[in-house]
Amino acid sequence: MAELTANRTFEERGETERIEIELLLEAVYRKYGYDYRDYSRASLRRRLRRRLGLDGWESFSQMQHRVLRDSDYFAGLLRDLSVSVTEMFRDPEVYAVLRREVVPLLKTYPFVRIWHAGCCTGEEVYSMAIMLIEEGLYDRTRIYATDISDSVIAQAREGRIALEKVKDFTTNYHRAGGEEEFSDYYSVSGQYATIANEIKRNVVFSTHNLVTDGVFNEMNMVVCRNVLIYFNRRLQGRVLGLFARTLCRNGFLCLGTKETLEFAECRADFEPISLKNKVYRRIR
Ligand SMILES: C[S@@+](CC[C@H](N)C(=O)[O-])C[C@H]1O[C@@H](n2cnc3c(N)ncnc32)[C@H](O)[C@@H]1O
Repeated sequence: MAELTANRTFEERGETERIEIELLLEAVYRKYGYDYRDYSRASLRRRLRRRLGLDGWESFSQMQHRVLRDSDYFAGLLRDLSVSVTEMFRDPEVYAVLRREVVPLLKTYPFVRIWHAGCCTGEEVYSMAIMLIEEGLYDRTRIYATDISDSVIAQAREGRIALEKVKDFTTNYHRAGGEEEFSDYYSVSGQYATIANEIKRNVVFSTHNLVTDGVFNEMNMVVCRNVLIYFNRRLQGRVLGLFARTLCRNGFLCLGTKETLEFAECRADFEPISLKNKVYRRIR
């Protein structure tokens, strides 16, 4: 009997928390226009619980009260909700596939437009730029690099990388098929490596929210890696539809290795270039 009561109390607490989180996300959306309502709940709940613990509050209703009245507090919460893990040449095999299978086709175009959606602090964007320089395609390319977060976009523009990460990035670069001296692409000052201006020159950074903002036009490639995993299936489908509309015919889509087109309505619009590496081509 005691066990049954304990279970019921536990379930009720879970249900109350679920309602409070929904109300908090609704409040965030209605007050600030950031729509987290269709983000995958497990990861969001973990992040929110962490913030709740740090703030010493007992419930998400208290957090909601503060969010609605204090935009600085909200800005901090937004940073907590964002997962900003990234690397240069992350998943090197993906870049090797892009170099081998996609770049030769992009070379047939007079001008190439690439959108990196959810680019975080810019590491994947600069990796792409380096690869395109080496392939002689960068002069004819414009990269649009966007993220929901102002603060990561500001960091991306600076192109500063903590020196302790450079060794791993160099290894990734060579695994991805890079044959040059990786150190030619940055200069070192203090504890940071700064990406060379030559690499930054054809990148336009801006904020863009995949949930609430519109499409870009006629992209030859969309790279959106390790962003959709934070969305529920419905939102993933919506965003993938947006990418399908953004891509020109025969354009390429590159997702994260744990992400898939499989459940999206637009899946028939694509054929795989590499299923393992989640590289697709729009065929209609
Ligand atoms: C884990 S990082 C992935 C970074 C990079 N694409 C990579 O694979 O290394 C996820 C990024 O998605 C961004 N993000 C989350 N929700 C977003 C949204 N609705 N619109 C645009 N970017 C979003 C986050 O701010 C974060 O920078």
